[in-house]
Amino acid sequence: MPRKNFYITTPIYYPSGSPHMGHAYSSIIADVLARFKRIEGYNVHFLTGTDEHGLKIQREAEKSGKETQLFCDEISKKFKNLTKILNLSNNDFIRTTEMRHHKSVESIWNKLIQSGDIYLDKYKGWYSISDEAYYDEDEIKDLNGEKIAISSGSIVEWVEEDSFFFKLSSWSEKLLAHYKSNPKFIMPSSRRNEVVRFVEKGLSDLSVSRTSFSWGIPVPKNSKHVIYVWLDALTNYLSALDFPDTSCKLYSNYWPADLHIIGKDILRFHAIYWPAFLMAANIPLPKRVFGHGWILSEEKKMSKSIGNILDPLEIIENYGIDQLRYYLIKEVSLGNDGNISLINLKKCINNDLANNYGNLCQRVFSFIKKNCSNKIPNKETNSKKGKELTDKLKNNIEELVELMNNQDLNTYIKSIIDYSFDSNKYFNDSEPWSLKKTNLKEMNSVLFFITEQIKNISILLLPVIPISANKVLDILNVDKSLRNLTGITKNDNLLSNKELGNIEILFKKVE
Ligand code: ME8
Ligand code: MG
Repeated sequence: MPRKNFYITTPIYYPSGSPHMGHAYSSIIADVLARFKRIEGYNVHFLTGTDEHGLKIQREAEKSGKETQLFCDEISKKFKNLTKILNLSNNDFIRTTEMRHHKSVESIWNKLIQSGDIYLDKYKGWYSISDEAYYDEDEIKDLNGEKIAISSGSIVEWVEEDSFFFKLSSWSEKLLAHYKSNPKFIMPSSRRNEVVRFVEKGLSDLSVSRTSFSWGIPVPKNSKHVIYVWLDALTNYLSALDFPDTSCKLYSNYWPADLHIIGKDILRFHAIYWPAFLMAANIPLPKRVFGHGWILSEEKKMSKSIGNILDPLEIIENYGIDQLRYYLIKEVSLGNDGNISLINLKKCINNDLANNYGNLCQRVFSFIKKNCSNKIPNKETNSKKGKELTDKLKNNIEELVELMNNQDLNTYIKSIIDYSFDSNKYFNDSEPWSLKKTNLKEMNSVLFFITEQIKNISILLLPVIPISANKVLDILNVDKSLRNLTGITKNDNLLSNKELGNIEILFKKVE
């Protein structure tokens, strides 16, 4: 059977400042899902990158005194480095200042012109540079003598300039019909309802070009205008597949995208503008947009001025990347806002990783080393409890796949850590140290079942804590080709009689 394909993306981040925990969070979520689809047997294309045009970037570059492209190069590099530090398995990193992207955006623009969806007029209204977004009068308010956008709190300024418009208003009905017939197009459902309510009020046409600055992709045949940065940015998902070359492998294998992972702040762009642009350009729509919530620190949105920023680099340096990945996925209920703190990070490392999964591996491996000449024993009796333990996990694979296909990372990880907890209990209750004196065959069976279970738990943890889970699978000498769901369901005796590799401490307890 040919392998199926899966295309997943993160937002492309503005290289206007250094990457922070929020960026790390989106990227880690997407990586966990990408890695899971791979162990499920899919060919996965996982894309991330940087969004480099627009007034926001131009102004930041001016402030820094650097030439704009150089400014982007430097910060984009930090985001690229972060993909390594976070151990992301992305297949590509796109920058919107690349030629391949430029070509795609021009092509989309031309399609929208041809379809009659773009016309020239004048824009008069509010604009937030920080959000790169237009706001209606009823979306702003006064605060300390300044006008701000209610939703984001960022300052808006009055803009009046010549502008091309996209006929967004004519797409409301079709968008609503699409949401209706594809109830999981926007997830979670609370976000979907929010979007539906907004579109039901009716949409105004959208200004899609700017004339008061130059840092962007020029409108074809009218270089007085640059293309609105969101039309430019959203197209990255296509340009990374070499669009408009629709006959190429990348595009034909991976478009339409399966999943755009984004934060809730940019839902409107992905769930309204993007599908409208695509429908107008007669390009198939992505299958799902998942808008996750905010990472909060001390119950507040992290911000430099509040001083509650948790720096991902510092945390990784002090506690380890798998530890951070595990914590973010376990702690924050995906889709909702979630508070994170150092205290809870430490608790989580100690409880789940060190005392639970880490301890399970450590004690079982040391026992085998000491009592079985370091060789994983064979099953010599039909230990009912051992079989129950391993069957429970194996019989649950379909459900776990379903959880991941619904982006329910929290329930997934809780199930896995419960298996680990049950395994520790099984080891305690079976007392292999006593069986050693009374029933060697039964002791061997206990060790057989528990190593089998450790292998399976480790495979399921691969998407979340790839470095540590691979260490365990290395110790167990599990072949690379079986570090996937097949390695769980395959009934061949994968482990017994194999010698254990070097045992190292997986997770240090932290103070
Ligand atoms: O919006 N909690 O880029 P951006 C959780 N370039 N996630 C957070 C977060 C937080 N506190 N802060 C940021 C842009 N994020 C555009 C995107 S896509 C075609 C263009 C994450 O650098 C979250 O995913 O402002 C959010 O949507 C994204 O970073 C915004 O990154
Ligand atoms: Mg932002």
